[in-house]
Amino acid sequence: MAIATRSAFGALVNEDAVHRRLYTDSNIFAEEMRRIFGRTWVFIGHESEVPNPGDFKTGDLAGQPTIMVRHANGEIHVLFNRCRHRGAMVCAHATGNASYFQCPYHAWVYKTNGDLALVPNVELFGSDFQLADWGLVHVPRVDSYGGFVFASLSPEGISLDEHLGRAKHYIDVMVGRAPFGAIQATQALRYEYPGNWKFQIENMSDNYHATYVHASAFGVRADMGQNGAAHVFGNAPNNQEQARIERSFGHGHGVLDYQGTRLLVTEPDRYPAYFAALRERRGEARARELARTDLHVMIYPNLILHTNYNHYRVIRPLAVDHTEINTYPCRLVGAPDEVNEALVAASALHVSPAGRVQVDDLEAFSRVQRGLAVEAAEWVLFKMRGVDEHVNEYGELECRFLSEMIPRGYYREWLRLMSQE
Ligand code: FES
Ligand SMILES: [Fe+2]
Repeated sequence: MAIATRSAFGALVNEDAVHRRLYTDSNIFAEEMRRIFGRTWVFIGHESEVPNPGDFKTGDLAGQPTIMVRHANGEIHVLFNRCRHRGAMVCAHATGNASYFQCPYHAWVYKTNGDLALVPNVELFGSDFQLADWGLVHVPRVDSYGGFVFASLSPEGISLDEHLGRAKHYIDVMVGRAPFGAIQATQALRYEYPGNWKFQIENMSDNYHATYVHASAFGVRADMGQNGAAHVFGNAPNNQEQARIERSFGHGHGVLDYQGTRLLVTEPDRYPAYFAALRERRGEARARELARTDLHVMIYPNLILHTNYNHYRVIRPLAVDHTEINTYPCRLVGAPDEVNEALVAASALHVSPAGRVQVDDLEAFSRVQRGLAVEAAEWVLFKMRGVDEHVNEYGELECRFLSEMIPRGYYREWLRLMSQE
């Protein structure tokens, strides 16, 4: 697709390569915050992170601080974390439980639905000053699917339903692996890397690197044998890669489907009580399919689902060369404790700051960032073509491993969003 005429950004994105400036130019980063994170649906948090009234989580949307909070009536609100008086952030904790948010500066007090409840010396603010006019501002649009809460800074635009499209099917699969049909997030595993935010979403759809970057980690797995702790490592021999499927679909989303080529924590015969609970509610065939599901789902721009180790990963861009990642290992609600303990352990083993796999990727990201300082080589390549690329019955572009088809989808969406005024 020749797109050089579509916008100034068009000159930076080709069908199978993008310009290094996408990763190094802080002006482009600022435009990404405005045009991508400031416009499309962005993942904020999962409802299970705030299970009880008053539970909150702070974060940001396109660099603007936010609070996701469950109100007394059970509703979840996403509010801007900005006092209506002189602008202080009213809450500086990452997570917690609060009956009210009290601004630290002059002690204005807000309810957990954002309403302004109390102003010291309110009589000095004039007779027309109404508390009802000065609540915390709500993020323009908030919606959720399968407990995953998304927000958009744009008051208008396509619905979350339309934005997610086929991604809803993969959320259903992740949630459906729980006997009771729900996941429960646990404590976040948090780390930062000195590199651009797009490296993480590229990496999760990249099965080219794993053999090389993770050679030592996979060596450890091999030493564990197939029956001991190895199942929490869950990777298969390379000769099965041809069975694996990649799919790219609307709005930049994509999925890697490992098609039963890796060992899973939830193998039907590993934890019979889990499988029995799943079978009881879903039937034998569907239960087997769900237990054997192994997906990386990339929900553009900032959410990744990993059904094998059962976590979701959230990308938080901080600067053009600085990114924070929060990974939330999840329990399968209704599954026996031993299964959930193994799933949380598997996530921690892979993607915690002291884990054995993601640390390799982080080293790669920081080297890419440093390498891209070279101006003489301008293009970053996504040329790999998978076998048998075609559009499947669900409208997804599909091929067999290995390919760089899914990132090509990211950059089509990147350009589409960046080109809109
Ligand atoms: S800035 Fe919050 S009360 Fe003054
Ligand atoms: Fe990796």
